[in-house]
Amino acid sequence: MRRPLVAGNWKMNLDLPSARTLVGAIREGLDAAVAQRVEVLVCPPAVYLFPLNEALRGCPVRLGAQNLYHEASGAFTGELSGAMLAEAGAKYVIIGHSERRHTIGHLEDDRMVNLKLKAARRAGLTPIVCVGETLSERKSESTLEVLTFQLTAALVGVSVQTPEDLVIAYEPVWAIGTGHNATPQQAQEAHAHLRARLRELVGDVSQEVRILYGGSVTPQNAADIMRQPDVDGGLIGGASLKADSFLAIIRAALAKVT
Ligand code: PGA
Repeated sequence: MRRPLVAGNWKMNLDLPSARTLVGAIREGLDAAVAQRVEVLVCPPAVYLFPLNEALRGCPVRLGAQNLYHEASGAFTGELSGAMLAEAGAKYVIIGHSERRHTIGHLEDDRMVNLKLKAARRAGLTPIVCVGETLSERKSESTLEVLTFQLTAALVGVSVQTPEDLVIAYEPVWAIGTGHNATPQQAQEAHAHLRARLRELVGDVSQEVRILYGGSVTPQNAADIMRQPDVDGGLIGGASLKADSFLAIIRAALAKVT
């Protein structure tokens, strides 16, 4: 059985004192029995990784980064390598988030996602590769085609042997930060499609790879989404910035495995 993963993507939010308070409250509120069954991850701004790694010492909550650069070192002003992020405490890294694909200046394309995925793996980080269609792609009924293309392009030349080698996040662009989550049926359709394509690309290990849903997940809608057979947890933005709502979503993921 796949162990659910609930990941908080803090984006560019919080100052250091509030970041410390938030991880303290998550740590405090996370039952040991829950933490055994559900993997919990927070992805703060990169400058907070190091202090939060200290704050989380001895605690099962893992740390992840929100981005990396694909080169190992060199004249790349302002960028961070996978090894630097790992040294600061990251175990995971988000790659190809829709805000990086569509919103932020240097747009991240499928080729860049592939390079970053390989760089993450070289640094011993588990990549969380985000894929998802825009609203116009959904309206033109090309969602599944877009997902196939993004997944295939991300995995060119990548071998996946264990569930630590890859996590996928299905994040419909129209659902991120909008309050309009995908319905549980829409999520399941996309996740089942991704798992079937993944099987063609990497074989049986596709049954062990976790596919997270992301996009306006709240404590109110989490249980219905998580209950879907191919949804293995969530990538949570806004609702991960408050301990109460994040913990409630973790409990919803727990219901999946109890
Ligand atoms: P949201 O963000 O939960 O605020 O919609 C999700 C994400 O961007 O990963």
